[in-house]
Amino acid sequence: SPGGSLYDRIGPAALEALVTEFYRHVAADPELAPLFPTDLTLTAEKQRAFLSGFMGGPPLYHQRFGNPMLRARHLPHAITPRRARAWLACMEAALRATPAIAPAEAQELYGALSRVAVHMVNTPDAEE
Ligand code: HEM
Repeated sequence: SPGGSLYDRIGPAALEALVTEFYRHVAADPELAPLFPTDLTLTAEKQRAFLSGFMGGPPLYHQRFGNPMLRARHLPHAITPRRARAWLACMEAALRATPAIAPAEAQELYGALSRVAVHMVNTPDAEE
């Protein structure tokens, strides 16, 4: 329904499908996979909880894990501009591979996530 939150328009089932698809791409990405644990179950669960609140739905991450403090939680990981682009490319591919999310909602969510992703960068790209 136009006017509702992104969460209302996308819904929990499509969000779960998106997150599953996203980490399939992350696990296959040579830039990103080395940063993540082999078992992505908890990582995906936290992302699903975070995105629920981020999209205007139930604030599940806050309820279960407290303040997300996303930039601080990413500081232990070397997030370069190249890795931020790879993360966004995985998200774009996952959105395309999730037909339950219509293009308008996909574009809105991608735009919001790309604004967050630039704030996670904490390390310059390695020189060639
Ligand atoms: C956790 C990488 C951007 C949300 C993590 C973890 C890594 C990572 C390595 C730890 C995974 C684990 O040990 O379970 C990256 C990279 C990004 C990026 C390379 C590129 C810019 C983002 C963005 C968001 C986000 C844009 C949100 C919109 C989260 C959340 C967690 C997380 C919610 C779980 C935090 C926790 O441990 O409680 N990320 N991330 N990340 N990331 Fe990112």
